[in-house]
Amino acid sequence: MNHFPYRDGELFAEGVPLRRIAAEVGTPVYCYSSAALTANYRAFAEAFAGQRATICYAVKANSNIAVIRTLARLGAGADVLSEGELRRALRAGVRPGNIVFSGVGKSPDELALALETGIGQINVESEPEIEALNELAAAKGVRAPVAIRVNPDVDADTHEKIATGMKENKFGIDFDRARAVAAHAGGLPGIEIVGVAVHIGSQLTDLAPFSAAFRLLSELVGGLRDDGHDIRRLDLGGGLGIAYQDETPPTPKEYAAMIATATDGLEVEIVLEPGRAITGDAGVLLTRVLYVKKGVSKTFVIVDAAMNDLMRPSLYDAHHAIIPAIEPAPGTNEGADETADEAANEARVDIVGPVCETGDFFARDRLMPVLHSQDLLAIGCAGAYGAVMASTYNSRPLVAEVLVKAGDFAVIRPRQSYDDMLGAEKMPDWLEDARPLPSTQPLPPKGVA
Ligand SMILES: Cc1ncc(COP(=O)(O)O)c(C=O)c1O
Repeated sequence: MNHFPYRDGELFAEGVPLRRIAAEVGTPVYCYSSAALTANYRAFAEAFAGQRATICYAVKANSNIAVIRTLARLGAGADVLSEGELRRALRAGVRPGNIVFSGVGKSPDELALALETGIGQINVESEPEIEALNELAAAKGVRAPVAIRVNPDVDADTHEKIATGMKENKFGIDFDRARAVAAHAGGLPGIEIVGVAVHIGSQLTDLAPFSAAFRLLSELVGGLRDDGHDIRRLDLGGGLGIAYQDETPPTPKEYAAMIATATDGLEVEIVLEPGRAITGDAGVLLTRVLYVKKGVSKTFVIVDAAMNDLMRPSLYDAHHAIIPAIEPAPGTNEGADETADEAANEARVDIVGPVCETGDFFARDRLMPVLHSQDLLAIGCAGAYGAVMASTYNSRPLVAEVLVKAGDFAVIRPRQSYDDMLGAEKMPDWLEDARPLPSTQPLPPKGVA
């Protein structure tokens, strides 16, 4: 939570106390720091300054258009995975030439839009996709700039649900078949092979798997060039991890040095697709304690955010630091050290949401300062794979998102209103004339941020 320090006893995002955001916008609310986004992006840009590299921010990590625009203004391109993400990147002002379209199942409509928009690179992941893209491009009289995404069969040593570079994963074209696939694709009128791509997984905290994959990719470039392909780009994907707890992921500088060695002498443009490393620690989820429930064997701190707002703990058993917005008294554990002895002003608790699922938790058996109803908490490192994965499960409206810049903040996605949520649904004709049940009373509209 480096970017969200305590100052005079309360937690800040840049020049704004988080307590103020919660008071004005309500909770739960995602809060992002422009300065943190900028610092994280610049760390990449500076680390790769000595290499010909394009940083295409992976929009999937946090696709709020204001976040994308903040990064685009610093020079970032975008890596998108769907038509929706492509539209967001364009609306944010990313130049089409700086957009890469990844993903294992792009529909014909999505591919057609990518061609019409003139994006810089389409990463193809299967032979049928290449055929579909060729047909669409040839019909338009253009050649699609394609990178062949290969599956190098490298174990990324990360959570199984975010490992993408092993044979049994659905991603990429088998490494051993890549030259044959390229030989066929290169002869198609609608395809221009400009590069090769790889993405072996997310939240990697060790350089070794990256290095193994990138060396294989470098060998492949040699082979493809021998086959007559003009390979100009090497797309190395995303995946650099962040410190959620006590991990020590490589820095962008260390990552860049390893890449320089792995690709030495290749004379290629490097494309990078970092997501988590740019937005992860640039955001927190603010939530308020509703109740503290003392059970027979556990104490449950029930907060107003839930798994539908931030899925990572329930989906990946992910650890997120959770700290109070008002600094605990000196000597109180801040929820970071799981092994510390309990003091009088600490308690070991489960922090859970209101959703009716046992998997709806943010922390289990976490040593926390003693908490009370109405206390405001910040869930750290929630800027990546947080709001983008949110749903309205349990009919909970999507939460608000706020972007801070220096002493200012703006709501960049208002809290979804109940009218928006319910109004999106339609009644079929045969139920249209159904009279409300006698006991049904319309509820007054609820004030929303
Ligand atoms: C193709 C692709 N590129 C980039 C990323 C971004 O990864 P990360 O957020 O770990 O940097 C992902 C996410 O897994 C991805 O699937």
